[in-house]
Amino acid sequence: MNGAAPRSSARDEAAAGEGRGVLALRLPPSRLALLGGVYSNHIALAGAIADARRRGAQALFCLGDLGAFGPHPALVFPILRENGVVTLAGNYDDSLARGLDDCRCGYTDPRDNHFARLSYRYTFERTPAEEKRWLGALPRQVRIETGGRRLLLCHGSPRRMNEFLWESATPDAFLEKLFREHDCDALAVTHTGIKWRRELPGGLFVNVGVLGRPENDGTPRVWYTILDVHPDGSIEPTFVPVEYDHAALAREMRAEGLPDEFVETIETGWWTTCLEVLPSKERMRAKW
Ligand SMILES: [Fe+2]
Repeated sequence: MNGAAPRSSARDEAAAGEGRGVLALRLPPSRLALLGGVYSNHIALAGAIADARRRGAQALFCLGDLGAFGPHPALVFPILRENGVVTLAGNYDDSLARGLDDCRCGYTDPRDNHFARLSYRYTFERTPAEEKRWLGALPRQVRIETGGRRLLLCHGSPRRMNEFLWESATPDAFLEKLFREHDCDALAVTHTGIKWRRELPGGLFVNVGVLGRPENDGTPRVWYTILDVHPDGSIEPTFVPVEYDHAALAREMRAEGLPDEFVETIETGWWTTCLEVLPSKERMRAKW
């Protein structure tokens, strides 16, 4: 075991860390790359960064959850830093930084909790202390003024780091309220693992997807988002698939003794765990 054991957490810590740590940036209209949950998938992360640069992305952002699920969690940190990826904290990062005893993903199903705990323990023990301190210093939100528009990047939602915003379960009126109350014209999140977008009179919403695991569609590819901010202030999101060496990641996961269920997801593209959080509409599209 490489690190101190996580200390116990109280349930009322769920909202701790919100409302602080906002990084404010001003950028010219440009092409931005938004990378969602990495879940220790260092191969897909490197692939997505290279792809975004090939496509001319001028600034790269990661919306948090660097660890979980995959192998060798320490590998993602140098990739992010060496490539100048502006990174904000997700719930997983916040839990690791604060030494909490779980990822606060909000599972209630005993089987999901079993796998979540295995994964969290594995990641906690293999994340070096200095990287936990780095995670603890990450902003919770990034605000970008560009092309006369206000972009807000966060992990789950602007009001709660571990809130799931699913396409089928998020009413237009709720998104309009988020745009209004959080002073933004475009809002980008991750956390659910499945990308989606919606354009409304009050703003653009984008769930940028995740790099860490496929999105339960029967293919091993993962996704990130390019956001083009044009000089006229229009904002155009494009979902970009990342084909990476998933067989190599699966081999690393097996060698590390990670659960076969996780490896199966990487190889087949179907989720085998954490299905309880899916609303019925998203679940009906899937195999299990
Ligand atoms: Fe998350």
